[in-house]
Formats: sequence, C-alpha cells, structure tokens
Amino acid sequence: MTEEVHIEAHESPIKTPTQLVVVILLAFLVPIAIIVAISQYLTSGLDTSPSNPLMAEDAVAKRIKPAGEVVLGEAPPPAPAPAPGGSAPAGPVDGKVVYEKACTACHGAGIMNSPKTGDKAAWAPRIAQGKQTLYEHAIKGIRMMPAKGGNAALSDNEVKAAVDYLVGLVK
Ligand code: HEC
Repeated sequence: MTEEVHIEAHESPIKTPTQLVVVILLAFLVPIAIIVAISQYLTSGLDTSPSNPLMAEDAVAKRIKPAGEVVLGEAPPPAPAPAPGGSAPAGPVDGKVVYEKACTACHGAGIMNSPKTGDKAAWAPRIAQGKQTLYEHAIKGIRMMPAKGGNAALSDNEVKAAVDYLVGLVK
C-alpha cells in the first residue's frame, strides 16, 4: 500500500529518454515560435516591400510632402504693402534668391509668354533694349509682367539683382 503511494508521487509523463529529448526541444522551440508569431503580428502593418501600395513612390511622396506648394500658372496673390521706411535689405542682395522667391513662378516655365529663364532666343530681344529698360520694366511692370513681379515688398535693388541674375543666365 505504502509502496503504491510512493510510486504515484514520483510519476512523470516522461517515461523514456526520447520523450525527455522531445520535451527539452519543445521547451526551447515553443517560446521561440510564440515570440516570432507575436513579432510577426505586431509588424504586419509595416510591409516595406515595393509591392505594398502604401510604399509606392507617389504614396510616399504624398505622405511626406511639404505643407505648402508652388502653384504655377496663376498670378501670385497681392503682395503685402511695403514696410514703411522702405525695405532695403541689410547686406548685399542675392539676385538668385530674389528670383527664386518672386520671379520663377512665371519665368521658370515661361508662363503668359514671359521670356523663359535661360532661353537665349527669348531674352535676346529683351536684352537688346538695354539693361536700364529691363530694370525699369521689371520694377514698374510691362503688359502682363507685374511691377516687381507682383511682390511690392521687394526693393528696387532686389528686383535689379534678379534681372541681373536672369540676364546673366542667358549671356
Ligand atoms: C506673374 C508672372 C510674372 C512674374 C511673377 C514675373 N514676371 Fe517678369 N515677365 C512676365 C511676363 C508675362 C513678361 C513679358 C511681358 C511682355 O513683354 O509682354 C515678363 C517680362 C520680364 C522682363 C523683360 C521686360 C522687357 O522689357 O522685355 C524682365 C526683365 C522681367 N520680366 C523680370 C522679372 C523679374 C526680375 C521678376 C521677379 C522680381 C519677374 N519678372 C516676375 C511675367 C512675370
């Protein structure tokens, strides 16, 4: 009787060495499989393969696009009134910066028949008028070309620098 009790207390489902090996292996493999399954589940939304439509170039570009965008083909909105006392900038004026800020919207693509930036043939007859005339037309406007490119806050010197930059590109 006592012997029976003794045997039961030590009874184990593992009876053979093979079973022991299997149990030890499972003790390693099962947790690993569970961890792999969990990580798969958690990262399933992060498919970075090119076949994922969310990873398509334009979808990505859309997500990371800057808040503002340049609209070509429309007149720029009316510029704010120039600051009282003039808006002469400190330091030398960079025509390229002014051009990119105020002129490229039209001249960059030749909008409204404006002489296209870098187009020698379009600029030759303009340049032939003389630089003073170009300055004057850029500052005061001519036909579809708005005064100061529509940016009244620019100083005359800034506009002249932008003209110099435009002319320099087609020389
Ligand atoms: C809203 C569009 C627009 C913007 C912005 C613009 N331009 Fe123009 N520009 C024109 C058009 C259109 C012409 C052609 C005018 C014509 O001869 O009929 C022109 C012509 C010119 C000419 C040649 C003038 C001449 O006598 O032949 C110069 C120089 C010029 N632009 C400089 C500038 C500069 C510098 C800026 C930026 C400060 C600027 N433009 C911004 C539309 C624009």
